[in-house]
Order: sequence, then structure tokens, then C-alpha cells
Amino acid sequence: MSEPIYALDDVAQVYGTRTVLSVPRLDVRAGEVLAVLGPSGAGKSTLLRLLGLLEAPTRGQVRFHSGERWVTHAEARTEERRQIAMVFQRPALLTRSVRANVAYGLRVRGERDAAERIEAVLRRVALDGLAKARAHTLSGGEAQRVALARALVLAPRVLLLDEPTANLDPANVRLIEELIREQNAQFGTTIVLVTHSIFQARRLASRCALLIEGKLVEVSPAAQFFEAPRDPRTRAFLSGEFVF
Ligand SMILES: Nc1ncnc2c1ncn2[C@@H]1O[C@H](COP(=O)(O)OP(=O)(O)OP(=O)(O)O)[C@@H](O)[C@H]1O
Ligand SMILES: [Mg+2]
Repeated sequence: MSEPIYALDDVAQVYGTRTVLSVPRLDVRAGEVLAVLGPSGAGKSTLLRLLGLLEAPTRGQVRFHSGERWVTHAEARTEERRQIAMVFQRPALLTRSVRANVAYGLRVRGERDAAERIEAVLRRVALDGLAKARAHTLSGGEAQRVALARALVLAPRVLLLDEPTANLDPANVRLIEELIREQNAQFGTTIVLVTHSIFQARRLASRCALLIEGKLVEVSPAAQFFEAPRDPRTRAFLSGEFVF
């Protein structure tokens, strides 16, 4: 079993008076693909923002292991944060070219001479023919691939994906799933994948977590999660009987 890269302890996230997430304990292991499933409003994106060290939890600790030390949101240095890349549920692209969008994160990091890396990632997401196209003219699938390319070009240790294939056609779903699989297999990138699709989780995940009303009701290896779930709510969710 590989080393943990995240450790969550007694985490709660409270917005106003509502506790939208409550996680007594969760580890994410280096090199795994962890799928986070759950109904709308369950707290999946909130969990992902905490893993991205974008906000601090209201209570408890979200700790990230940088390879050298454990850090919290408050402690993480820029170079440690930069090990984590996130693709948001509704990614906002710059109203510039596809290439400029992909180059942006590298420019912010002060990395020049990255032209070859940018071309390579554009080829990987099959957008090399659209490198000069303005991002706001792209189809939904193309825009989603730009958002993914923008994260991949940073060569992150951790990739946090929030519904990366929502509303896409089967060809785009397949392409993006192949990239996710490849990123994990070739580069060992740790991936946390929020998805509404149990089929996608089945295809990609090594472990699955089910979040309902801010609580993790089950976190299991994928085979067990799908074939022999322990929690009756997992069974109900998988069979579509869960009443939201
Ligand atoms: N910044 C915020 N301020 C107030 N409430 C918030 C905030 N962010 C999220 N919430 C609330 O927290 C709950 C969980 O939201 P979250 O976006 O994490 O759900 P989700 O599981 O990602 O849902 P979906 O599948 O629809 O994307 C929701 O009820 C949402 O309205
Ligand atoms: Mg969400």
C-alpha cells in the first residue's frame, strides 16, 4: 500500500450555519485514482477545494504531504501548492487562444521556453489543430479538453478533477478518460475524480468514496464498492434507488 499524500482528520466545513461537509477521517494515497461519488449538493466540490488547499476547513485538519513534509492550507508554500492542479466543475477560460490558455499557468510560474511542452500537451488532448482558435469559440468538449490541458501541462503530482466529462458526448468522454488513465499509469499522478457517473468510476477508479449530505458513507477499493458494498446506502445509490 502506497504512502498517504493527504490526511484528513475531524474535518468540517461550515458555510453560514450549515455543515456541508463532515469527514472524521480520510486518507488519499499517492498514485491512486480515488473517485468521489454522491448526489448533487453532497459536498463533493467542497471536498475537492479543501484538497486543493484553496480554503481552510472550519474545523479539523486537511494535511498534504509535499514529499518532504506535511502541510496544511496555512502552512503550504507556493512550490508545495504547485504540486496540485485542479480542473473546476465550470472552468473559466481566458478569452484568448487555446495555446495562450494552456501557456498561462506556466507563465505565472515563470517558466519560459515551454513551447515544446505546450505543443505536446495540445497533441495529447487532440487540440493541436485548434491551437490558435479563440477559447470562447470552442465546443463544450473542446473547452473541457483545454481546461484539462492547462492542468496537465503543469505536470502536477496531484490532479483534482471536478466532473471533467459532465455534458460531453461519448467520444469526448472516452478521450478524457483515456488521458486520465494515462496520466495516472505513466506519471503516477494521484487523481481525485469527482463524478456523477458510476460507470466512469468503475472504468477509472482504484478506490471509491460515496458522499451523502456531507458524510462519507463508504470508502472502499473499487471492486468491493461495486461488487459487495458494505453500506446499504451504497447499494441504493448504485442501483439508482437512492432518493435525493
Ligand atoms: N461558498 C459557499 N457558501 C455557501 N454555501 C456553499 C458554498 N459552497 C457550497 N455551498 C453549499 O454546500 C453544499 C455542498 O456544495 P458542493 O458544491 O460541495 O456540492 P456538490 O456535491 O459538488 O454538488 P454538485 O454535484 O451539484 O456539484 C451545497 O448545498 C451548496 O449550496
Ligand atoms: Mg460540485
